[in-house]
Amino acid sequence: MPDPATQPAPPPALTTAVPDLTLTALTPADADAYYALLDRNRTHLSRLGDYQEERDATEAWVRDHLSRDPAPDLRYGIRLRGRLIGRADLIAVDPPRYGTGYWLDEAHVGAGYATAACTALYRHAADALGATDVFAGVTHGNTRSVALLTRLGFEQVADFADYTRFHLSLR
Ligand SMILES: CC(C)(COP(=O)(O)OP(=O)(O)OC[C@H]1O[C@@H](n2cnc3c(N)ncnc32)[C@H](O)[C@@H]1OP(=O)(O)O)[C@@H](O)C(=O)NCCC(=O)NCCS
Repeated sequence: MPDPATQPAPPPALTTAVPDLTLTALTPADADAYYALLDRNRTHLSRLGDYQEERDATEAWVRDHLSRDPAPDLRYGIRLRGRLIGRADLIAVDPPRYGTGYWLDEAHVGAGYATAACTALYRHAADALGATDVFAGVTHGNTRSVALLTRLGFEQVADFADYTRFHLSLR
């Protein structure tokens, strides 16, 4: 069991433009809720061939996954009235340039929650970490993700066999 006294502090909770929607660190304490969330979203997440580990997740995989300290990446749970409905990550690929990932419970798609969550995350990245750029890779055919990135101000910068790379300047 890791000693809590030697564990790094989790990243701060973030509020969003949606009053009941917050981002707080996704930690080992979320294992049961995160497994339940994954278990009802296996098809939703893997429809385009992404998220293979999540599609095959077991409770043991989730416990191991969440027990790993994500630093220097930021790993946030998206929570609506405190209930876990998704995930948003900031990946320290080459600071101040970052990558990102995000997903929502299928039952909560279509309400603007990913837009609000990602806006808060990238604002925090710029203000607290000095992030200058965020990149995202989107598998061809993921129209919802492309629409989300377009709403957030990302632009397409490269096209590959399986995916398109998007870029957001935070300068
Ligand atoms: C990608 C994903 C997170 C996008 O979710 P989403 O719900 O479409 O995006 P948002 O939460 O920003 O919601 C946008 C929708 O809410 C509506 N909306 C309502 N209020 C809104 C607001 N205040 N702001 C923005 N959109 C709002 C929009 O009009 C849009 O509606 P539409 O579904 O009719 O087009 C989701 O589809 C998902 O989890 N997919 C599976 C995982 C995945 O592919 N992840 C990305 C890998 S690159």
